[in-house]
Amino acid sequence: MTGWRPGDRRADTASMLRVDQAGEYGATRIYAGQLAVLRANCAEAKLISRMAAQEERHLARFNQLMAERRVRPTALQPLWNVAGFALGAATALMSEKAALACTDAVETEIDRHYGRQLDELGEDEQELASDIADFRADELEHRDSAREAGATGAAGYPLLTVAIRAGCKVAIALSKRI
Ligand SMILES: [Fe+2]
Ligand SMILES: [Fe+2]
Repeated sequence: MTGWRPGDRRADTASMLRVDQAGEYGATRIYAGQLAVLRANCAEAKLISRMAAQEERHLARFNQLMAERRVRPTALQPLWNVAGFALGAATALMSEKAALACTDAVETEIDRHYGRQLDELGEDEQELASDIADFRADELEHRDSAREAGATGAAGYPLLTVAIRAGCKVAIALSKRI
């Protein structure tokens, strides 16, 4: 609030919440798709279940903020429902390591996305900024856990992660606007 003058650019927090909620929702769908395919109780499924629980916490917080501020969700939610699940299931069908490479790629983009938002918010919206910083730390931890568990050893890792990251960028750009 401090320092803002009429005419200054202010961060578009409605658009931020919309894209963040879409991303966290997408993350829960990706993990649901992976867990539907992976053998229950394998090491990867255990890791992914733990990460999925954290995505649920992130999503719940954005849902709450959107309700409080009367921000509408993205109209693309039904698409992210299906596309997220399909991405998760497809990567898990390739291999356990490909499922982890998917997390590696997605979290790399989400980390960059949250970093840009924090830059944009600056000193504004400190409560929102601290939530984003908190979630960003979880996402980085997810990326690092996936790498430690062997993500980079997935067959076709470079191409797979480049493709998934490109998809994330498109999803982010669309969810801000639509
Ligand atoms: Fe998340
Ligand atoms: Fe995550």
